[in-house]
This record gives sequence, structure tokens and C-alpha cells, in this order.
Amino acid sequence: MQASSSVSQVRIALGERTYPILIGAGLLADPGSYQAAPSGGDALIVTNTTVAPLYAERLARALAGRHRQVHQVALPDGEQHKHWETLNRIFDVLLGHGADRKTVLYALGGGVVGDMTGFAAACYMRGVPFVQVPTTLLAQVDSSVGGKTAINHPLGKNMIGAFYQPRLVLCDLDVLASLPARELSAGLAEVIKYGPIADMAFFDWIEANVDALRACDRDALAHAVERSCQIKAEVVGQDERESGLRAILNFGHTFGHAIEAGLGYGAWLHGEAVGAGMVMAAQLSHALGLVDAAFVQRLTALIARAGLPTRGAVLDAHDNAGRYLQLMRLDKKAEGGEIRFVVIDGPGRAAVRAAPDALVRQVIERCCR
Ligand code: NAD
Ligand code: GLY
Repeated sequence: MQASSSVSQVRIALGERTYPILIGAGLLADPGSYQAAPSGGDALIVTNTTVAPLYAERLARALAGRHRQVHQVALPDGEQHKHWETLNRIFDVLLGHGADRKTVLYALGGGVVGDMTGFAAACYMRGVPFVQVPTTLLAQVDSSVGGKTAINHPLGKNMIGAFYQPRLVLCDLDVLASLPARELSAGLAEVIKYGPIADMAFFDWIEANVDALRACDRDALAHAVERSCQIKAEVVGQDERESGLRAILNFGHTFGHAIEAGLGYGAWLHGEAVGAGMVMAAQLSHALGLVDAAFVQRLTALIARAGLPTRGAVLDAHDNAGRYLQLMRLDKKAEGGEIRFVVIDGPGRAAVRAAPDALVRQVIERCCR
């Protein structure tokens, strides 16, 4: 739906928890962008030490007329800080300011800030409203949308969290200009993901536009963010709490999360781990007889062109496949210790399946350096 000539809007339809995603340029600094969010009480901008100097003041000025007071907290930057102690800093600031139930939290940053802010909002006084202002491509196309919030545990990624929806998601395309190239590539992993699982026409479009996307072309980014959010909205609208369909959004993530936890959080970017994880999941789909080798090659080539790794990391020099299997048994999709993988069941269609350990071992051995 077109809200104005330059701002597009996607709706996450969840009954009384329905909310808009606004996508466009110049949104962050425009006080008019925040109409869908509650106003009147205090606001807390949760950001990190990298994003704060770039955008926090702009956001604070935009919110000044909507809130009694606008406070800020800048968390340490990085996946390695996505844990209890950092989360607690948000509660320290909220309690230090005597924040009440009308306080609105604004997540200004990438997926790490967004996931932690959302979880803090779900927990503080048993739930206060929050708004996502995603500043990475990955967060604009995926993590800010759909209400998954979490922190990591040393034994498993995103293991402690809650489903808790924001009131508004504001994707300002301008902020992507300051994003390092490596982070832009990481975001492309989650964009590419939507093709094989749901929309091969979109996959064709990404193939044709991947260079423009890497060059931060505004029109290309606008389409990538809008189409990704549309697909995610469609899936989340049908299965908010991942009782079935929503699991397809985790294509590549079972292998990818094992890489992140196995190497130590922050060694590879989440999007990089998902890039290599999608190749491994596509190889597994091929080994299960679900897709042909040409499809795997095509996906692998696009992941490489996006600037992402196409081979998995070695997590254990002695028993690499064993280490992957051990970590993947802790995946949230696993049931009774049986790992369940998102596989491609024909281009543009995904399914969730178990696979024999021996076959998974072969795939890991073939795919890791
Ligand atoms: P991130 O949040 O670590 O951000 C990447 C880096 O870019 C950080 O150093 C950050 O400070 C910096 N940055 C952010 N915006 C910037 C800007 N505009 N200019 C310059 N630098 C900027 O990483 P991410 O890739 O955004 O998110 C990854 C996280 O998202 C992971 O923890 C992952 O588990 C989570 N995730 C969650 C979901 C979900 O559904 N909730 C989905 C996918 C990923
Ligand atoms: N990123 C996967 C999901 O939101 O379900």
C-alpha cells in the first residue's frame, strides 16, 4: 500500500496487535512518522555506542513533542553483548528514571539492539510498548518485524526471549548509507532467503540487482526492504508464534546458528553465518532429492555475489560434523533431540524435515573449509 509517493507501508495483520512498517527516506527525523506509536508518557531510546553518535539526537528531537521526557541508553556494540548483563542495563536506566507503564522504548540500531529492546519491553512491568527504528539492512528486512525478541545463552543463540510485537517499525533508508559494506552484505543474506522459500520472481530480481544493492542504490534498497517485509508479514500474519509455517523463515539458520555459537558470538556476523548456512541447507535439500544441483549452484553463486561466505566454518578440527550436530540439537526447532531442518522442496517452496545424521554429516564435510 502506498502511503505517499516516497513512503510505502506494509501492515503486519495480527488483530489488535496489528502495526505498520513504514519504508522510505527521511523518516527518522520526521515527527510525523511516529503517529502509530503511543505518546504522552516518557520515551527511552535504546541504542548502542556506534549508532548513538550517528542518529540518537535526530531521533530524540523528532520525539521531543510526543513524550514528556526522552531518555537514552547506549549499550556496548556487538553480538557478544547480547546477554543478561546488557539487558539489565536497560532495566537499570528505566528504574533509575522511575519509568512507568506509559513509557515507550525505541530500539534504534541493528538486530542486536532490536532483539534486546523488544525483550526488555516485554519484561519491564510485564510489558510496555516499543517501537523498532532499524538501522541495518538485516534489521529492516527481518529482525525488526514479527515480534521475535531474545538474548543469547552461551549454549545457544536467542534461547531466552519472548514473542512481543512492536507498535510501529520505521525503516528509514537514509541510515543505510553509513552502514559498512560487510554489514550490508550480511543484510543481503536475509533478503536472498525470501526467494527460495517463497518467491522465485523476487530471487530473479535480486540476481539482476545485487550489484545495485551492494552499491546502496536507494530504489533497489526500497524494493528489497518492501518485498522482504511483505513476505515476512504474510508468513507472520498466518503463524505469529511459529507453530508451523513461520519456521521457513529460518532457512539456513540451523547451520548458521551452530556456526555463530560454535565460533563464539561475533566471530562471524549473523548474516554471514546464514549465507553459508543457506548453502548447507540447499546441499541437504539436494541430498534429500528435493532440488537439483543447478538450483544449489544458482543459490550459491548469488550468495557469493552478495559478498557472503559460501562455505561453513570449521568448529572442531577433530569431529567437525559431530560438533555441528551437538549444537544443532539445541536449535529451537529440534524435537526430542531430533534436529529439524528448513529445506527447499522445489524452488520457491520450503518445508521442515528431519534428516539422517549420516547424510547431514556428509553435507557438513562437503561444505566446510
Ligand atoms: P547488529 O545489530 O550487530 O548491527 C551490525 C553492526 O552495524 C553493529 O556494529 C552496529 O552498531 C552497526 N550499525 C547499525 N546501524 C548502523 C548504521 N546505520 N550505520 C553504521 N553502523 C551501523 O547486527 P544485525 O545484523 O543488524 O542483526 C543481527 C542480530 O539480529 C542477531 O543477533 C540475530 O540473531 C538477530 N536477528 C533477529 C531476528 C528476529 O526475527 N528477531 C531475525 C534475524 C536476525
Ligand atoms: N527471522 C525468523 C523469524 O522471524 O521467524
